[in-house]
Amino acid sequence: MKFPRKGIPQEEVMRELEKYTSKDLSFSSGKILGSMCTLPHELAREVFCLYMDRNLGDPGLHPGTKKIEEEEVIEMLSDLLHLERGYGHVVSGGTEANILAVRAFRNLADVENPELILPRSAHFSFIKAGEMLGVKLVWADLNPDYTVDVKDVEAKISENTIGIVGIAGTTGLGVVDDIPALSDLAREYGIPLHVDAAFGGFVIPFAKELGYDLPDFDFKLKGVQSITIDPHKMGMAPIPAGGIVFRRKKYLRAISVLAPYLAGGRILQATITGTRPGASVLAVWALIKHLGFEGYMKIVDRAMRLSRLFAEEIKKTPGAWLVREPMLNIVSFKTRNLRRVEKELKSRGWGISAHRGYIRIVFMPHVTEAMTREFLKDLREVI
Ligand SMILES: Cc1ncc(COP(=O)(O)O)c(C=O)c1O
Repeated sequence: MKFPRKGIPQEEVMRELEKYTSKDLSFSSGKILGSMCTLPHELAREVFCLYMDRNLGDPGLHPGTKKIEEEEVIEMLSDLLHLERGYGHVVSGGTEANILAVRAFRNLADVENPELILPRSAHFSFIKAGEMLGVKLVWADLNPDYTVDVKDVEAKISENTIGIVGIAGTTGLGVVDDIPALSDLAREYGIPLHVDAAFGGFVIPFAKELGYDLPDFDFKLKGVQSITIDPHKMGMAPIPAGGIVFRRKKYLRAISVLAPYLAGGRILQATITGTRPGASVLAVWALIKHLGFEGYMKIVDRAMRLSRLFAEEIKKTPGAWLVREPMLNIVSFKTRNLRRVEKELKSRGWGISAHRGYIRIVFMPHVTEAMTREFLKDLREVI
């Protein structure tokens, strides 16, 4: 398409836009079951639209928004993660948060051939981090229950190790690694531990309070030096809203560069992106203030119950079986003729994928019991 010489009326633009976007699946369509994002909460949507012009790449212009990020959102996230004072940012997503953690570990380690030890279940964002930062990824094996094998992690520690990664809510199965054991290991060897709780960060604290038996995963454990926690996943915030929290300021300092020319004055900037949406931060702030711990507990309660109900139904479905018992609100299962089953479910409009050798259902806040039952009916017919 050519860059138009003359513009067209707004209504026509909107009509054309609708033609394209009507092909998208929306979170309110009742069909998306395989995403870690969801329909943002209505308050967050309102705040996001209202403050779309705030740029945290130039915080001197927006000191109110900066204060909310630094002093309130990061503090509230730190508190949720059992840290009195944390240092970090709301960033573009879990990918950027993970890259920032690896960058901080690499810069502080100052070794010639840096290596990062991470579980085979780690998100592909670490592949990007490794490539961009010149850090070799050393993959640790998994146990039969898909948690990382801590003994294998230990065996892979070398003088080049800049950090260890543990996952609190793996992308495929929602598995939480034995973070307490990884933390002990990290302390014993004096290596920082990063916890990727991009998904689990807004699930585990609430699920534990509800009585689910899950390991500790946060700053309560002294070896944990940084945590990725994404509000745009189970936090119900609009995209983009990832989160990175460091235990100490030195990590943030280690990745800060001088931004000398800004209208609001010189600053040190630690994020990968320069210009970045203040609206995201304000939406996260508004949501946390509005929902509170109890509000998120209700959201997680519903999601966890629904995932348990679904897991039980899969056990009763001939030709389908669970990959493992769910730990969080993610249930993954295999079927006979998986490829054909996937294709037919997709042709019935379901937003799922089976590229890892199983189908993963993520019980996000937009997933209802009615949707779940409708999906089960289709799944049984297709099998
Ligand atoms: C465990 C984990 N970490 C990191 C990410 C990357 O997050 P984003 O897509 O927001 O960059 C994901 C995304 O699914 C994830 O599941």
